[in-house]
Amino acid sequence: MITHGLTRYHIPVLVEDVIEQLKVQPGGRYVDCTVGTGGHTAAILEKSSPGGQLLGLDADLEAIRLAQTRLQPYGGAFLLVNDNFKNLAAICARYNFRPVHGILFDLGMSSVQLDSANRGFSFKVDAPLDMRFDPSQDLTAADIVNTYSKPELVSIIEAYGEEPRSSQIARQILLNRPINTTLQLAQAIEQAVGGNRRKTHLVTRVFQALRIATNQELSCLEQALRQAADLLGLGGRIVVISYHSLEDRLVKEFFQQESKNCLCPPDIPICVCGHTSSLKIVTKKVVTPQLPEIEANSRSHSAKLRAAEHI
Ligand SMILES: C[S@@+](CC[C@H](N)C(=O)[O-])C[C@H]1O[C@@H](n2cnc3c(N)ncnc32)[C@H](O)[C@@H]1O
Repeated sequence: MITHGLTRYHIPVLVEDVIEQLKVQPGGRYVDCTVGTGGHTAAILEKSSPGGQLLGLDADLEAIRLAQTRLQPYGGAFLLVNDNFKNLAAICARYNFRPVHGILFDLGMSSVQLDSANRGFSFKVDAPLDMRFDPSQDLTAADIVNTYSKPELVSIIEAYGEEPRSSQIARQILLNRPINTTLQLAQAIEQAVGGNRRKTHLVTRVFQALRIATNQELSCLEQALRQAADLLGLGGRIVVISYHSLEDRLVKEFFQQESKNCLCPPDIPICVCGHTSSLKIVTKKVVTPQLPEIEANSRSHSAKLRAAEHI
């Protein structure tokens, strides 16, 4: 986290790689789908000046307010919208913002959200079990924990936390209901597996699973990637930074699929799907932070950047 006076900002990850992979040029038009506290947004605005234009989105109104203040020096070059990136195409249509030269997704939560005393993302801070990126959304993590059936909880913990002890954990959650705070949930998870060893990784995985379910993160990303590919002009690029294997797999598979001319099963002799490639993968190997960046910002350690170009 960077502190400016009383304001705290998220430290943006892989900034130079983002600028390089987006091929940011003066006068270009860009969308930052995850503005957060505006670190990448500021770098894109800087590099696209003079004449650049940026549309920024975030589901979190607090993030938009913070970024709006931080980005004042870039005046009329940007517009920030408090919305979910699953509505990307409609938002760009509303502001007549297309075609675009580059679209950035820096997924997950910011360190400002993680460390916030009332958002419920972290088990290191006791807070109401919330976890919503958009606090105006109805569903909270507490709703999931306190009202979903055991099989539903098992499937969330298994699918989004990749945690094999999902059944024991779901059972313990049911026994401890109602669970209203992050620490109550962390305790229930720890009780589920017993023993004296610290269980930070286990609790982290279950919290990740609940956050993904609360915000329907994978479905929003899937919808947005499809729309992003359609918004790019020729040579325009999509850049995605992900922080866990489920997101990264989704991005990798989407890029692979969209870079192929035919999606028919291999045993069909003639193409019947009519699919044509719209993207070329430009990061043959996934881009990850170097050691100095990881040392300076431990939260960057799991970042993976992939980019593709519209052809
Ligand atoms: C890792 S942070 C971005 C940090 C940002 N790049 C910066 O430099 O400060 C991710 C941001 O994406 C937002 N976000 C996550 N999912 C979203 C979605 N589906 N639609 C819009 N915003 C989303 C979160 O609210 C959070 O502010």
